[in-house]
Amino acid sequence: MKYLVQPKKTAHGEITVPGDKSISHRAIMLASIADGETRVTGFLDGEDCLATMSAFQQMGVKIERITEGELVVHGVGKHGLREPTDTLDLGNSGTSMRLLTGLLAGQSIATTLVGDGSLMKRPMRRVCDPLALMGAQVATSSDGTPPVTIKPVDQLNAIIYELPVASAQVKSAILLAGMYAQGKTVVKESKATRDHTERMLSAFAYPVSVQEGNISIQGGLSLQATNIQVPADISSAAFFIVAACIAPQGQITIHNVGMNPTRTGVIDILLAMNANIVIHNQATVGREPIASITAKSSQLKGIQVPTHLVPSAIDEFPILCIAAACAKGETRVTNAEELRVKESDRISQMAQGLASIGIQVEEFPDGLRITGGSISGGEINSAHDHRIAMSFAIASLRASSVIEISDCENVATSFPGFVELANSVGLSINVQ
Ligand code: S3P
Repeated sequence: MKYLVQPKKTAHGEITVPGDKSISHRAIMLASIADGETRVTGFLDGEDCLATMSAFQQMGVKIERITEGELVVHGVGKHGLREPTDTLDLGNSGTSMRLLTGLLAGQSIATTLVGDGSLMKRPMRRVCDPLALMGAQVATSSDGTPPVTIKPVDQLNAIIYELPVASAQVKSAILLAGMYAQGKTVVKESKATRDHTERMLSAFAYPVSVQEGNISIQGGLSLQATNIQVPADISSAAFFIVAACIAPQGQITIHNVGMNPTRTGVIDILLAMNANIVIHNQATVGREPIASITAKSSQLKGIQVPTHLVPSAIDEFPILCIAAACAKGETRVTNAEELRVKESDRISQMAQGLASIGIQVEEFPDGLRITGGSISGGEINSAHDHRIAMSFAIASLRASSVIEISDCENVATSFPGFVELANSVGLSINVQ
């Protein structure tokens, strides 16, 4: 699937974007192993979260779809999952595979996790190594990639583990396994990563203690069903925030956006770039803060992205690169080598893509330097990466001719309805 995107100058509207991907995954996972029925609203009906849902259905969990975005999960309890008759195919979703590896490591069932071409190349030792220290029987292929095979064990042992990479997926996998361990598991993180697992465990009445980067969980307790309202995904909102900032005539308001402080790096970075962004209607749903965000045409300026903001904006670098291409001066991103092991090598894909639309860019092992300039048209290889595809579609708001983007089908993993929504605010994306 290709996008042919015509240049446009206006991005205008009041919109909502789909539910948060990270929170939707966790809602299915924790609800499935809770005691009782959990109602989830605002669930992201994207392929990644549907892959998580189907994995639990294959393990015997009944999940009723009430209306769009509304589900009832009939929890089977912490030890109630049934052995699936087939491998669990998690598609493009790294979050599904890494968190499930942790959740399944302490079960008395055997499972094998596989995925699509991109997921089958992603590093899994980062979760399997700490789980092995807990006594789990988890294996990867010889180069540390999927399939991940998990064999039953009687019980896991608690560990104290210092995260070698800033990764919420690794942290979450260990915490989920920690529920099945004897004793208290402690994960130490030196850079804060998204804390949706910790917040949601507390919502399911499973105590987690967080103190100065030490996250502790006691094994052997149970989860109580609850209701989960999923906020809109700030990672999806980011495309429209940047759209409004770079469009010559831009003004977009997005409602009910998740504003968890471990996710708002994109706002802080854009504000430092002189973006015209206002946060209003602040509220809390469940354990997560939300707000409305209004962004308007801005005279962006290049910056050195502060290192401490990298983990909290990790998924937003593709669209931040587009903002940088439209800014006056240079933007430097460093200490972001994790971008090389996402759904694609995002440093290399963004560098190639920006060069194809006439932007000066230099690639570093851990980031890039982008010099703001004039965007021409051009051909972009999205490498089947949803965020690369959406980012270059937004760049059309400053392009002088058509941008053609290949392999866009994976936009459906995180943002169903992206094309329709983008066209409704003024873009012109033609799907071919
Ligand atoms: C996620 C954590 C991040 C992020 C991913 C979702 C999560 O990955 O990039 O899209 O839901 O925990 P890492 O843990 O690899 O940083």
